[in-house]
This record gives sequence, C-alpha cells and structure tokens, in this order.
Amino acid sequence: MSMSGLPYHHDTAEKIRIASGLPRQPGQTDEPLPADVDDVSGAGDEDYRRDGHDHPDGGAMPVTARNPNEAGEKDDQSVESANVEGLLTEIDHIAIAVNDLGDAIDYYRETFGAVVDHREVVESDGVEEALLKVAESYIQLLTPTRDDSPVAKYLEKKGEGLHHIGYRVADCGAALEAVKAQGGRVIDEAPRPGSRGTTVAFIHPKTAFGTLIELVQE
Ligand code: CO
Repeated sequence: MSMSGLPYHHDTAEKIRIASGLPRQPGQTDEPLPADVDDVSGAGDEDYRRDGHDHPDGGAMPVTARNPNEAGEKDDQSVESANVEGLLTEIDHIAIAVNDLGDAIDYYRETFGAVVDHREVVESDGVEEALLKVAESYIQLLTPTRDDSPVAKYLEKKGEGLHHIGYRVADCGAALEAVKAQGGRVIDEAPRPGSRGTTVAFIHPKTAFGTLIELVQE
C-alpha cells in the first residue's frame, strides 16, 4: 500500500543519526527528500541501486550500527544483533504491481490455485488490491485506480513486478522507532491505517538495501 504523502522530517532523522553516532550516508544531503520520494514506487530506485553498487562495503545504512571502537575488528554483527529483539514476526505480504488486476488474479488462480481472500480499494493511496492468502501470508496484487497514484508512476517507470515487502510486527510504532533509532529513513513518520484494518508504516528503500518495506501490525 502506499504513502499518505507525509513530509519527511529530516531534522528528526538527522538528530537521531548524530545521537546514534552513525555516519552520514552517501548521497545524504541537508535537502529534504525529493517530492516523489513518497511515491510508493520506491521512487528514485535507480539512484538507490547505484548507491548500493558504488558502495558495496556500506554505501547503504548497515542494519546494525557498528560500534566505532570495534571498527576494523572481525565481524561484530552477531554481538550487535544480540541486543536487538526480533521485531518481525512473519512475512505479511509480498506486493506486486500489475497493470490489470483481473489478469493477475486469473494467473495466480489458474497457475497456482491461489484465490482472492480480500479485495479493497484504498482511495488515499490510489490503489486497488487483491490479497491471496498463502499459509499465514498474502500475495498482494496492486493496481492503480488513478493516473497520479504512486503505483501508476511505478508501473510507468519500472513496469510490472515486485513493489514492496510487508513484514508483520507486533507493534508498528515500536518497530518504526527502532528503524529511526538506527538512523534509517522512513516514509511514514508515524503508524497509519493500512488495508484490512491493519496499522502500517513504510520504510524508505534508501536505507533498507533497496527494498521498500512496510511494517504491518494486524
Ligand atoms: Co502493502
């Protein structure tokens, strides 16, 4: 699902970055994110990818902050991550942007026997979605309902394909704060309503290794 277009609070993120002792990220500037960043499409994806390729040793924000005192030491991630609780409880959904929802639904039913469990138009995001249940997770087929929808822009730019991953969490607000505390960029500064009565927040792909992540609390 998509963003509400909330502005990016750069100052807050910057304070967190400084407080966390995290390095300024490559390409990070004092400018707010470009307007199309709340484009669910993972706007500027080409830029994100380029960053990743140019800085394989840490161009993207590390998942775990490294202790500067241990810089250069052998991999200390296991030590670091031991302090982080497991916030993700399940894969909630895999979102796929498609041009024709009916065609995509037919494909999944005819090929895999996967059927629609829930269908919803989310006007605020300009999308219609169909959720196909697979065990405890969903395949979320997404299509735009209007031309200025972020998903419409995504399709125009990238074509059909993987759009975002929804990770299920017990507490969306707590998980979002954990992302911010690590200096990660977020698209939603606070949790907001998602489809099927969930509470969600999106994390910017720039600091999430090129993946648009949605935190989903049921
Ligand atoms: Co979603």
